[in-house]
Amino acid sequence: MRSVVVGFGGALPQKCIKNDELPESLNTSDEWISQRTGIKQRYVISEGESTSTLATEAAKDALRFARISPNDVDLIVVGTTTGDYTFPATACLVQKNLDITNGCPAFDVSAACSGFIYALDVADSFIRMGKAKQALVIGADSFSKILDWNDRSSCVLFGDGAGAVVLKAEENTDKGIQYCKIYADGSYSDFLTTTGGVATTQHAGVVTMRGREVFKFAVEKFCSSFQELLESNDLTIDDVDLIVPHQANVRILNKFVDVLKIDPKKIVVTIDAHSNTSAATIPLALNKIKDSIGTNKNVVLLSMGAGFTWGATLVRM
Ligand code: ACO
Repeated sequence: MRSVVVGFGGALPQKCIKNDELPESLNTSDEWISQRTGIKQRYVISEGESTSTLATEAAKDALRFARISPNDVDLIVVGTTTGDYTFPATACLVQKNLDITNGCPAFDVSAACSGFIYALDVADSFIRMGKAKQALVIGADSFSKILDWNDRSSCVLFGDGAGAVVLKAEENTDKGIQYCKIYADGSYSDFLTTTGGVATTQHAGVVTMRGREVFKFAVEKFCSSFQELLESNDLTIDDVDLIVPHQANVRILNKFVDVLKIDPKKIVVTIDAHSNTSAATIPLALNKIKDSIGTNKNVVLLSMGAGFTWGATLVRM
């Protein structure tokens, strides 16, 4: 039994802030942000928008693409760390918004920027165990709500968004998820974190990070998890058609490409248009390229996020 990706969707907030529209008080510039990160703009939620509304729009989009009606979904997993409420889960709000009344399980997975890959692995496991047949997997975050808007070294990096895929159980196929491996190393938990939380300050807090260390770790883990994926599947870099990495900084991607001598054309880059949308970067990128992926292509997804968490997935489209 394999999980075949049959639907892609995405949603961005209405409000877009270009680098040169950031508050003057930040004392930053389009030049610094573009050169150091590749980011040109970010989308941020306004009144009436939230992580669950974006997740719902992305889900609707993916279901439309897959031509599956909401009540035929039998699992909803959302990767997010910026849900609308402490509880219920954002996945339950999506279920309600989509009028899904079949009682299917709906829950969130917390792995920060690796949230989508973690959610994908969970949903794939449900499908391979025969516990689900049509799963909605979403990565959605609204980091604009947990940024210190006075800290130019972090607030310029992030934006809001949601992306979704629909996984369908299929037998006797060579398509679908071939490999998914997720990892964590909690000893790095304070390298990228928030200044608060429910059981500490009773407030979500704001993002703090050791940028250079995060940068180094991301390159290292993109490289090692990608190489492990190749070895485990008896593949070489030439067998991989496309790589969709988490979008945190274009220089992380350039370094990854340099170290492993990968053809840069194989790397999907969306950071210029979307910035770092945390758990949403990978499904938003997949949504962006959905019409040009083609069939029988080997697509690798790579993630890295707070925890530290990271992961690698091989999908045959
Ligand atoms: N505008 C102008 N100047 C800035 C800004 C800004 N927005 N931010 C920092 N600077 C200044 C600093 O104050 C510093 O000035 P100084 O030399 O006078 O002290 C100078 O720029 C250099 O700062 P560094 O932190 O050394 O810059 P660096 O080249 O390391 O880039 C960055 C910083 C972009 C944060 C980089 O380290 C990075 O991308 N790290 C990865 C972090 C990341 O992507 N986190 C996202 C979450 S994790 C994830 O998604 C995987």
